[in-house]
Amino acid sequence: MKILKALALTSAISSALLVASSATAGDPEAGKQKAETCLGCHGIPNYVNTYPTYHVPKLGGQHAEYIAAALKAYQQKERSHGTMHANAASLTDEDIADIAAYLSSAK
Ligand code: HEC
Repeated sequence: MKILKALALTSAISSALLVASSATAGDPEAGKQKAETCLGCHGIPNYVNTYPTYHVPKLGGQHAEYIAAALKAYQQKERSHGTMHANAASLTDEDIADIAAYLSSAK
C-alpha cells in the first residue's frame, strides 16, 4: 500500500510538472523545421563526426530547459564554442523555445 501511495504521489507531481513546463514550452512542430540545420551535426549516428573526428552532444530527449539554457549561453558567449556560437547567435528566444521543445520530444 505504501508503494501505491508513493506511485500516486509521483504521478501527481510529474503531471504538475508537465503542466508547468508546457506553459512556457515552444512549439515542437515549428522547432522541427528550425532544428534541421542542427541535426546535420547533432543527428548523426553515434554522435561522432567522422572527419575531423569530434564528439557531438546528443540532443534528442534532453530536457527542453537544458537545451534552451545551453543555447543562450553559447549566444551570450558564456559558453565558448565557435561553431555553436555561430549557430545560436541568430536564434530568437522563440526559436530557442521551439527548437528545445522539438529536441526534447525527439528520440
Ligand atoms: C557544425 C556542427 C554543429 C551544428 C550545425 C550545430 N551544433 Fe550544436 N554542438 C556542436 C558541437 C561540436 C557541440 C559541443 C560544443 C562544446 O563542447 O561546447 C555542440 C553543443 C550543443 C549544445 C550543448 C549540448 C550539451 O549537452 O551541452 C546544444 C544545446 C546544441 N549544440 C544545440 C544546437 C542547435 C539547437 C543547433 C541548431 C540551431 C546546433 N546545435 C547546431 C556542433 C554543432
